[in-house]
Amino acid sequence: MKEQLEKIELAAKAELEKISDAKELDDLRIKYLGKKGELTAILKQMASLSAEERPVIGQLANKIRADIEEAISARGSELKAALAEKKLKEERLDVTLPGKLQTIGKLHPLNAVMNEIEEIFLGMGFDIAEGPEVEYDYYNFEALNIPADHPARDTQDTFYITDNILLRTQTSSVQIHVMENKKPPIRVISPGRVFRSDAVDATHLPLFHQIEGLVVDKGITMANLVGTLDMLMKRLYGEDCKIRLRPHHFPFTEPSAEVDVLCFNCGGKGCSMCKNEGYVELLGAGMVHPKVLANCGIDPNEYSGFAFGLGLERVVMRKYGINDLRLLYENDLRFLDQF
Ligand code: DAH
Repeated sequence: MKEQLEKIELAAKAELEKISDAKELDDLRIKYLGKKGELTAILKQMASLSAEERPVIGQLANKIRADIEEAISARGSELKAALAEKKLKEERLDVTLPGKLQTIGKLHPLNAVMNEIEEIFLGMGFDIAEGPEVEYDYYNFEALNIPADHPARDTQDTFYITDNILLRTQTSSVQIHVMENKKPPIRVISPGRVFRSDAVDATHLPLFHQIEGLVVDKGITMANLVGTLDMLMKRLYGEDCKIRLRPHHFPFTEPSAEVDVLCFNCGGKGCSMCKNEGYVELLGAGMVHPKVLANCGIDPNEYSGFAFGLGLERVVMRKYGINDLRLLYENDLRFLDQF
């Protein structure tokens, strides 16, 4: 029996050497030390031993059991350490490798400036109104005091869906929707796309953006208009920015003006950008025509208002010194990345 025990110990230790993972180790433990294991099987035969032999063999068996247990646990630690080592090697980070550049998208300059203008007006207590791009003739022209035979229609030729329905040529159409739906006080801007049947060149596209403004209340005067636009331009172009109003004609405002800003390229001295004027034209504006108020059910004897229409592309081109409108629509990243 002594020999059998020693054989088991040798066999267990030899097998241990070949073991390469925790599962195998566990199987080995069961094979030798488990309830149905080889060592237990031998111990069961102890009863057949003589009284002198029993304690000797018993001691030996306990020692061998302890030895095998220790060897298993030592092998277990070895395996664990080897696994950790392997993991460390596999997951090693080379912090000296060059980094991978993440390309982060950004807003198109038209959207960025549009957002900026919206923020400025929201800060002044304006709401943002939306109107349809496919519009009735009535809202785009008629209600804005531009009847069918009015020469102003020639400068705003557009795309017709039917005789009566068209792609809007100006965001001024939203003025009518707003005044039809809301009684004064009104203070809104309406940014959006407009369309004209124009040939494409450096300053014309069949699609562009405008930002309309409308304020209607009791006692609104030209001074409110000038103050609002002055504030807008100072926020957009800096505190040094000055505006200038020139008399003009729009059918839906009376009086009407074209509004210029001091040329920020030359500061008013005159340069190629402002065609030696010292100022550049940015928008149309005026006091809402009494007929337009009346068309929307607002009494012009009680209320007055101002309106303006700003060309977004122009603002962006002036802001960044871009000289060809088409660049803004070509989606060339070499161009767009500059802003
Ligand atoms: N809608 C005009 C245009 O497209 C611009 C404009 C002029 C809008 C005067 C206004 C305004 O609201 O009062 O040319």
